[in-house]
Amino acid sequence: MARKHPVWARSLIDPTAFEHEQTRLGQIWTLLGVVTDVANDGDWFRTILGGRSIFVQRFGEDLRGFENVCAHRFYPLRTKDKGNRPIRCGFHHW
Ligand code: FES
Repeated sequence: MARKHPVWARSLIDPTAFEHEQTRLGQIWTLLGVVTDVANDGDWFRTILGGRSIFVQRFGEDLRGFENVCAHRFYPLRTKDKGNRPIRCGFHHW
């Protein structure tokens, strides 16, 4: 006899439901961090949004978010969880 789970818990046990939920969450406002996570010019942090790796970086007064993938050969631009340095791909160093 199959065990019944509440609908809200489906994404906890079903990988397809989890992927669907992550895709939907990537389309709405989501708290990724707080301003003190990127307090200094050039600070960045990496996280997951909608199942995709992204990073948020401070450029002076501006905060910008990027998909964590190089447009050249799709190598990840950030391979650590946080840091402070300009955006430069680690594969071909562009
Ligand atoms: S893969 Fe990033 S510069 Fe080539």
